[in-house]
Amino acid sequence: MSDDQKARVQAQFGPSAAAYVASAGHAGGPDLEQLLAWGRKRAAQRVLDIATGGGHTALAFSRFTPSVVAVDLTVPMLRAARDFASSEHAAVRFLAADVEALPFQDASFGTVTCRIAAHHFPALLPALRQVARVLRPGGSLLVQDILGHDDETASAFILEVERRRDPSHVRAFRQLEWTAFLRAAGFTVMDEAIMTKRRPWEEWTGRMRMSPEAKADLERFVLAAPAPARAAFDFVIEDGRVQSFTDRMLLLRADRD
Ligand SMILES: C[S@@+](CC[C@H](N)C(=O)[O-])C[C@H]1O[C@@H](n2cnc3c(N)ncnc32)[C@H](O)[C@@H]1O
Repeated sequence: MSDDQKARVQAQFGPSAAAYVASAGHAGGPDLEQLLAWGRKRAAQRVLDIATGGGHTALAFSRFTPSVVAVDLTVPMLRAARDFASSEHAAVRFLAADVEALPFQDASFGTVTCRIAAHHFPALLPALRQVARVLRPGGSLLVQDILGHDDETASAFILEVERRRDPSHVRAFRQLEWTAFLRAAGFTVMDEAIMTKRRPWEEWTGRMRMSPEAKADLERFVLAAPAPARAAFDFVIEDGRVQSFTDRMLLLRADRD
C-alpha cells in the first residue's frame, strides 16, 4: 500500500514539476509568512524542508538561515526546484528522500518545515517519528497542511474531489488528529493558526493536468453534490460552472520534547 502510494506521488508530481515551481500559491502567501515568523522567532538554524516540491519554503528559509537542506520523493521535482534555487542564487542542498526514511543522523536539525504535503504521506505517524528522530530536543517542526473537515459528509465530499483531481491525495487530518499524532511522536504543540486558501478552479485542476473529460466529470460531481457539502468549502458557481472553492489550512509549530 505504502509503495503504491509513493509510486502514485511520483507519477503525479513528476510531470507537474514546472507547474509547481511556477505556482503563485506555493511561491508565497500568509501561510508561508507565518512559518517564517515562527522560524525567525525560534532563530531557526540547520533547517530541513521535507517534501519540498518546487522548493519555495526552503528558499524562503535560506534567506535568513545559513544551512537549508530540502528533500523530496520525486526526482524531476527536485531537479526543477534545484534549477529554480540556483536561478535565485539560493544556497539550498537538495536530496532525494522519502519522509519515512530520512537519510540523516539523529538530532541533526534544529528546524524541520513541511508545507502543503502531509496529505500525500502514506501515514502521518511514521513520518512524524522520523521528523522527531532527526530534530534535536527542543527543535521545532513548522507544518502547514489542509485541515480535515469535522463534518463527515463534507469530509467525504472533498476527499472525493481531491482524489479525482490528484490520485496521490491520501487525506487531510483534523486538528485533534494532528495534536494526537504529534504527541505520540514526542512533540508538544506550541503555536497554531488556521487560514483560508481560495482555489481558483481552472488553475487548481490545470496544475494536475486533468484531461478535459476528467475535469468535466469532476465538475458534474461537484454540481450534483448536496448544497451543504459545497457550502462547507464555499464553492463559487457562476452560470453553472465552478469558479473556485476555499480550503482551510492548519499551521502548527510543535517542539520536540
Ligand atoms: C505540493 S508539493 C509541496 C509544496 C512545497 N512544500 C511548498 O512549500 O511549496 C508536495 C510534494 O510532496 C512530495 N512528497 C509526497 N510524498 C512524499 C514522501 N513520502 N516523501 C517525500 N516527499 C513526498 C511530492 O513529491 C511533492 O513534491
